[in-house]
Amino acid sequence: MQRISIIGTGYVGLSTAVCFASRGYHVIAATRNEENARAINAQQPPFYEPGLDAALTHGIRSKCLRAETSRAKAVSETDVSFITVATPEQPDGGIDLRYIISASEDLGRALQKKDTYHLVVVKSTVIPGTTREVVKLTIERTSQRAAGRDFGLCMNPEFLRQGSAIEDTLHPDRVIVGEYDARSGTLLEALLNEFYEGAVPVLKMGLESAEMVKYASNAFLATKISYANEMATVCETVPGVDVTHVMAAVGLDPRVNPQFLNAGAGFGGSCFPKDVKALRTFAEKHGTQAPLLRAVLTVNEAQARHVAQLVLSCLGEPEGKKVALLGLAFKPNTDDLREAPSLKIAAQLLEAGARVSAYDPVVKKVAFSEFEALEHADSVQACLAGAHCCVVVTEWDEFKALTPDDFITHMAKPIVVDARRIYDPQEFRQRLRYKAVGLGDER
Ligand code: UDX
Repeated sequence: MQRISIIGTGYVGLSTAVCFASRGYHVIAATRNEENARAINAQQPPFYEPGLDAALTHGIRSKCLRAETSRAKAVSETDVSFITVATPEQPDGGIDLRYIISASEDLGRALQKKDTYHLVVVKSTVIPGTTREVVKLTIERTSQRAAGRDFGLCMNPEFLRQGSAIEDTLHPDRVIVGEYDARSGTLLEALLNEFYEGAVPVLKMGLESAEMVKYASNAFLATKISYANEMATVCETVPGVDVTHVMAAVGLDPRVNPQFLNAGAGFGGSCFPKDVKALRTFAEKHGTQAPLLRAVLTVNEAQARHVAQLVLSCLGEPEGKKVALLGLAFKPNTDDLREAPSLKIAAQLLEAGARVSAYDPVVKKVAFSEFEALEHADSVQACLAGAHCCVVVTEWDEFKALTPDDFITHMAKPIVVDARRIYDPQEFRQRLRYKAVGLGDER
């Protein structure tokens, strides 16, 4: 069995690490953050992710997994290294490669001292050309070794979703192996076939195609969401129309499929907004306009504003009124606030002069200075108490279980804006004022 090191312990890195460890591989998770390494070794997940707790405990107790702050040690004691560091956004929307470069330098320096062949696999999301032009060249420069001869190089994009990261890592739909040379690709394919017991299709291709697959996939999914949101806004203008009925029917066409057609508050998180912007910036730098990607982002920005407008239109004069905002995380089952529509909506409501009280089952505080005015409730009831309007921004199960009575009992005025379409319009409309994304007025 190959020994594996993982460079970077974010969602992708740590999920990959615990999943390999769960199947008996010896894994070293390398992070330069000492606190993170201590937490991992103490079986404490550094972020909220269902199933991570148990998988981490199992990995550490079985001694298959340990965290290290020394990347050199992690590389020298293993046969394969996955690079899973973050590739954040630059101010112009392009990707920031500083963590990729530093991981490649550390890998190169470690490989210089290693005599055996080592396989390097880039898992971080990187713009086409990065693995060959940045990772390979940096490793070769710092190691004085040659790719293809002394070390192998592959690109293996990751498609896990936060909130189901462990499940997605263990059971992906497909695995992409971008290979620098045949030896590298064959080695990674064999490792992944062993790990997935041959149950997952492995698609082999060149490095740049593999890099592009990740962007093309995320761009397509983001496009589906913006399409559904645009249709939702049109549906709202027609009495009697409901976007959920329309999309359910559209999705049944096998050429479309029903997933990622849920109109809502717009897409957030660490991938879609960043990756669509990075692809657009990349395309433009290469002299290709990307009007579709621009439109996807424009519709997405407009969607959060549109939800805030729905709330304001129900509220009347916002000054002195309280809005209950249910859900802060960008999606359920995560504590991640990156690009969360909740923050865009809250900012607009606060700016308009409303009081905003937020409740989320997992995110207990928004610590950013521009949200000092945002109030935090410690339960749904406290959040709804005395409110003049409630907006549901994240579809947590706890909110799905609420009934019209919960709103009627606690709110000053029972008005609900359902930005995630979790309630039955008929049931709610009979009991209170109910507005929802993609729902036209009653006929
Ligand atoms: C996404 C991709 O799904 C995953 O393959 C990739 O590896 C990383 O990016 P993630 O961001 O974790 O995963 O979550 P996802 O479930 O895709 O949701 C992203 C955003 O889209 C969320 O804000 C969600 O609320 C929104 N969304 C999703 C919709 O608004 N409507 C939908 O129908 C689906």
